[in-house]
Amino acid sequence: MRNRPGLSLNETFDIYVKSIQNSDLEGLFSTVTENSDFTFLTTNGELIDKRMKYYEFHEKWFEREGWQMPVELVEVREGKQYGYVTAVFHYRTVMPDSGKYSLDSYFTLIFHKENDMWKVVADLCTPIGQSFTDKDADVKINEKQYYLFNILKNRRTVRKFKATPIPDAHIKRILDAARLAPTAGNQQPWKFLVIRDRDRLGKLKKEAMAWQIEEYKRSRKPDKPEFESVRESIRNAVNNALSAPVYIAVLVDSEAEYPDYAIYDGTLAAENLFIAARSLGYGTGFFTSFFPEDKMREFFNIPERYRLICFTPVGEPEDWPDMPDKKKLEDVILYESFEPEKR
Ligand SMILES: Cc1cc2nc3c(=O)[nH]c(=O)nc-3n(C[C@H](O)[C@H](O)[C@H](O)COP(=O)(O)O)c2cc1C
Repeated sequence: MRNRPGLSLNETFDIYVKSIQNSDLEGLFSTVTENSDFTFLTTNGELIDKRMKYYEFHEKWFEREGWQMPVELVEVREGKQYGYVTAVFHYRTVMPDSGKYSLDSYFTLIFHKENDMWKVVADLCTPIGQSFTDKDADVKINEKQYYLFNILKNRRTVRKFKATPIPDAHIKRILDAARLAPTAGNQQPWKFLVIRDRDRLGKLKKEAMAWQIEEYKRSRKPDKPEFESVRESIRNAVNNALSAPVYIAVLVDSEAEYPDYAIYDGTLAAENLFIAARSLGYGTGFFTSFFPEDKMREFFNIPERYRLICFTPVGEPEDWPDMPDKKKLEDVILYESFEPEKR
């Protein structure tokens, strides 16, 4: 279907919609202005101001398969030189993880007459709502819920960072989320020791390498060639682990009211910290082995009563690691009681 002189606004709009539904770029652009300026306000609130960019947007979209977009007409107003159409589109697609995504949005198309043909000069979208449905569960979730589940899914232990500094306000935001974690009897036994000083971190790097090497020699008594290669890999690993701009030692007070639960409290705070950091785009890690508690206590003058839960970096990852293998849900979930064969 192609636009042609003499068609009504309604007929041109019909070509516009059917061209989109059939991923027909030529058909679609027979209804779009020939001028290089264009106004496209996307459903994400992004402003695209050139016809060429509007073209590229649709070109990219039309490469995708597995989507549908029924359109519901709301209003058509045809003047002499200008006209507009308001409609609702119901975009439906399948996500890479096989979940379903739906986006409903108003769009208003402003048309202008060019050579006796109606041509779109502006496309203004206003999202009404979007939802996601899990691939096997029939649970509909909205955008905010989807965002939270994705943060949980995309949190990763990161072991190499960019040096990009982190604003102090971000660290405070992250720790503000950490301190809201649940605790036994609401005892909140934590302290968060923040380390940003490069000199101090440089010294820690040297020390942590020495601790690891010492520990390795003690436990393995290696021969020389083996020792050389292990020393190199320890150096690399510690260097990478300490490449972030900020570190936080999560500590808990062993003299809190319910000391037996302080470790749980601290671990929950650490997870809150990880999730908050992820939502600001930072990687973290529950680091324990490179940073033994007794050595860290001495290095940072941590009082005897505090226990080190973990020492986590906070920083922009060099690369986001892939998710490591995780057990399947059906292998870890049980209902009501252990069946004899599952013991
Ligand atoms: C109690 C605990 C101790 C951990 N100790 C270390 C550690 O010493 N060094 C390290 O690189 N990662 C450590 N991790 C991170 C795990 O290796 C990581 O969480 C796991 O491989 C899953 O990867 P993910 O966090 O990206 O999902 C620890 C995690 C936990 C919960």
